[in-house]
Amino acid sequence: MDLKNLLLFVFYWYFALGVHIRQIHPDFGLNAIQLIKKYGYPVEAHQIRTDDGYILETHRIPHGKNNQNSASKPPVLLVPGLLCGSADWVNMGGTNSLGFILADHGYDVWLSNYRGNTWSRKHETLNADTNKKNFFDYSFHEIGAYDLPANIDNVLNVTKQENLFYIGHSLGTISFFAMAAFKPEYNNKIRLMTAFAPVAYITNMDHFIFSWVEENLDYFNKLIDKYEMYEIMPYSPLLSIIAQTFCNDDSIFQSFCAEFIYLIAGRSINFNKTMIPVIVSNTPAGSSAKMFSHVSQMAIADSFQQYDYGEAMNKKKYGQITPPKYDLGKVTSPVALYYSDKDVLSVATDVDRLSAELPNVVVKKMINDYSHLDYLWATNVIPTLYDYVLENMNTYSYR
Ligand SMILES: *[C@@H]1O[C@H](CO)[C@@H](O)[C@H](O)[C@H]1NC(C)=O
Ligand SMILES: *[C@@H]1O[C@H](CO)[C@@H](O)[C@H](O)[C@H]1NC(C)=O
Repeated sequence: MDLKNLLLFVFYWYFALGVHIRQIHPDFGLNAIQLIKKYGYPVEAHQIRTDDGYILETHRIPHGKNNQNSASKPPVLLVPGLLCGSADWVNMGGTNSLGFILADHGYDVWLSNYRGNTWSRKHETLNADTNKKNFFDYSFHEIGAYDLPANIDNVLNVTKQENLFYIGHSLGTISFFAMAAFKPEYNNKIRLMTAFAPVAYITNMDHFIFSWVEENLDYFNKLIDKYEMYEIMPYSPLLSIIAQTFCNDDSIFQSFCAEFIYLIAGRSINFNKTMIPVIVSNTPAGSSAKMFSHVSQMAIADSFQQYDYGEAMNKKKYGQITPPKYDLGKVTSPVALYYSDKDVLSVATDVDRLSAELPNVVVKKMINDYSHLDYLWATNVIPTLYDYVLENMNTYSYR
């Protein structure tokens, strides 16, 4: 029995015997589609093919509960943060989840999943399990250049609309800015881009994982190659069982679980620890190691730029020896920035620099005391954030 199976065995019995578990959250173990059904909303799954052959699965909530037949407002595409997926917009129950709130406000809601996450580990020719080196050879650039355009075109094609709302969190913002600068023709298809915890410049990011990768970038890249760790933190049923076992309301370890999440995403004063087993039922959902290399290169270069392959390869790929910078001046979509003074990943000084270079910022709102994940999971997220977001989207809903 190898270590993984041994742990699985121990946790299975610990779990099965109900040790420390009197409270199993009713949403524990449900995926995005199951959560949407459970809360009484219609759901569709759409398979979308990108121009470079990835097959992505997007989940749609075509309308809310109180507008029975069709949405009265335009479509909205929700694009999650690093290691997240469609479930992270619908896992805070029937009242607090943005996916449900938007549907009940009349929007046609589309929840995207990036290449490489739980739902999107498919490709026309590459196998995500046996050919990780090639399958996971992407960063936010490829998401911006291929995944987002494929999602946007699919939504507009299915709904016969000319444009849509976009809401991105963290990676969902940097990939948007990359797309809108790299393929500026997509700006016309965006009614309003709402950015939670916006990221483009990351020079002042204060996070131990990224700092370590920055300081040891060559070593990090060698380790990835040596141990073939091209895929980072994929969805794990074992992890969700561990979370249910140790992080439930009766567990003496629950605060420890919360500390672990704070370590990864920054300390939150608005987090509901009861929800940990539900969150970990789907998150982390997987990403690529190259994402970390790329972001660390940008921090070192103090620049929002494409991946640096080294001079010779850059010359071949880009026709110049340095990686091209993204021209934020080309991002002409209206952009609403929601950021915070307490976010260690989307740092206020970096957001100020982004905002100064974007030509069409229509909202720039500081949310006090918000950590990186509070935009999704804070207990006070409706009055603190979503009420403003809905009000602002409403002004762009008709033409
Ligand atoms: C648009 O949708 C139709 C079906 O409604 C499909 O046949 C067509 O391939 C789609 N086009 C694109 C560009 O996705
Ligand atoms: C935390 O989540 C639980 C379970 O969903 C819920 O009953 C409780 O009201 C939440 N607490 C707060 C402060 O929102």
